[in-house]
Amino acid sequence: MYRIQVPASTSNLSAGFDILGLALNIYNTFDVELSEKNILINVEDKYNNENNLFLQAYKKGINYLGIQDYIRVTFNYDIPIERGLGSSSSLIVAGLMAASVLHDGKLSKDEIFQLASQMEGHPDNAAPCVYGGFTASIIEDGKFYTHNIQIDDGYYFYVFIPDFAISTSEARFILPKSFETKTLVSNSAKAIYLIEALKTGNLELLKKCYDQNVHEPYRKKLIYEFDELKNIFIKDTDGVLFISGSGSTCFGIARKKCSDNLLNEIKKLKHNWIIREVQVDYKGVSAYEI
Ligand code: HSE
Repeated sequence: MYRIQVPASTSNLSAGFDILGLALNIYNTFDVELSEKNILINVEDKYNNENNLFLQAYKKGINYLGIQDYIRVTFNYDIPIERGLGSSSSLIVAGLMAASVLHDGKLSKDEIFQLASQMEGHPDNAAPCVYGGFTASIIEDGKFYTHNIQIDDGYYFYVFIPDFAISTSEARFILPKSFETKTLVSNSAKAIYLIEALKTGNLELLKKCYDQNVHEPYRKKLIYEFDELKNIFIKDTDGVLFISGSGSTCFGIARKKCSDNLLNEIKKLKHNWIIREVQVDYKGVSAYEI
């Protein structure tokens, strides 16, 4: 039997819509072995069927390898579902990794990345989930490419996970289908600044470039108390806060730790926001025999 571990990820990082992703040290694990039929253990009833994303990905992986068989999987979740922390990617990447490890490691990391990105339709969560670290990814002629970028180690990262979910498809549907040139030019400049700020630890640069991009102004109305939370975080840490992926989690970056006062302020909000300090995961998906 093998244990597969996959990290959570935050994506977009403001101006890096559908491009940037960062792997975080929150993990799902899956214990997998071949079986007489597909068996999913520790899965909510509504996900315990052939449409389960892990199973879909496993089937995609074995189809790609020209194999047909069945799997028994025990799920252990820590990545919250439908909260913008790459839970879907984690299931897809783990299913593909299972197809690989149960068949002599026949899928390379690049093949797992390609197949996972195809399933998601965009590579920004799949890339950090597969490779770990901070990634910039693109799609060209149907092939996905990703590049790891170094990140300054003096930042503190926080996830603020609320008690409400947002579906990615709904959060994509509300986005405009086209943008004015000046919006795209500004967003591109901000994405470049953002990467430089994260690489070098330049918080002032980070602050200049993270607001008003191609997705947050439209999506923040889906995230109750987004502005309140942002103000609390900025007041406390002098950092920046943006939507993690398509939400509902918000992702905070600062050069100093949150204070107890922030915790008190957050408790006053109507929604129950769970705060976790997180670190970058540099490993990506991994598997070992148990
Ligand atoms: N880049 C994606 C989006 C991430 O914002 O829709 C969510 O899967």
